[in-house]
Amino acid sequence: MAILLSDNEFITVQKLIFREVGIDLQSSKKLLVQSRLLKRLLHYGFDNYLDYIRLVQINVTERIEMINLITTNETYFFREIDHFEYLQKEIIPKHPFKTKFRFWSAAASVGAEAYSVAMLLDKTMARSDWEIVGTDINTDVIKKARIGLYPEKWADKIPIELKKEYCLRGRGRHEGQFLMDRALVENMDFRVGNLMKYNGEVGRFDVIWLRNVLIYFDDDTKQMVVDNVLRNLKVGGYFFISLTENLNMLNTANLESVATSVYRKIK
Ligand SMILES: C[S@@+](CC[C@H](N)C(=O)[O-])C[C@H]1O[C@@H](n2cnc3c(N)ncnc32)[C@H](O)[C@@H]1O
Repeated sequence: MAILLSDNEFITVQKLIFREVGIDLQSSKKLLVQSRLLKRLLHYGFDNYLDYIRLVQINVTERIEMINLITTNETYFFREIDHFEYLQKEIIPKHPFKTKFRFWSAAASVGAEAYSVAMLLDKTMARSDWEIVGTDINTDVIKKARIGLYPEKWADKIPIELKKEYCLRGRGRHEGQFLMDRALVENMDFRVGNLMKYNGEVGRFDVIWLRNVLIYFDDDTKQMVVDNVLRNLKVGGYFFISLTENLNMLNTANLESVATSVYRKIK
């Protein structure tokens, strides 16, 4: 017999996810949540969602598992190519020589965004002159980002000369995959971070990308997340959101718009 997530149980999950992650799970997502959590019920041998929900309420480790299952981590290399062009043409050439360029991929997922930028930076700067931090709330994607191993198909979007230089084709048990050059990884720090709070430990950045995550938040949460993240941006630094997102309903008095979905911190 199928195990069903009741409306009340779904509301409890909605509240929990909203409180912990900020994600505003719409009612239309109920079946998706039911199916994503089912394997955890089966793992514990539960025959109903209530027992599982009680467990996540008291067990931090299982709460992290649940968050990992509920977040959407879709990403790919060189996503929204306009942003890479802007970075390459307008930002990197103007960066003061010999000053470390610090970049934050603030919803990094498995790292495709961070490694795409890393390849560009490494092409144009000395290796000692740049540094990338990638954070995400999902502990599974951060583990994958640290490894930097991707299905070969993902390399299709990487410009050919960068692919040749930085992507190592897998052999043997890694056939069909590619590994990011270890030299890049040394300049990168992937760590778990929640956008719902100020992440002071990662320091201040010249450029912050917060792309394809704001869509999951309501306006109040968006404001809080953007305010948190902007505390890590240097004055004069650049802030990118996705081309499909906007800051329309937010108070962004400390930003000026410099291109579509690109902002500069002015105070
Ligand atoms: C759709 S992916 C976007 C990845 C990448 N920025 C891109 O544009 O391709 C959104 C990521 O945001 C993360 N996320 C969602 N809520 C978060 C939160 N409160 N704190 C940190 N990361 C969060 C998810 O785990 C997911 O990996």
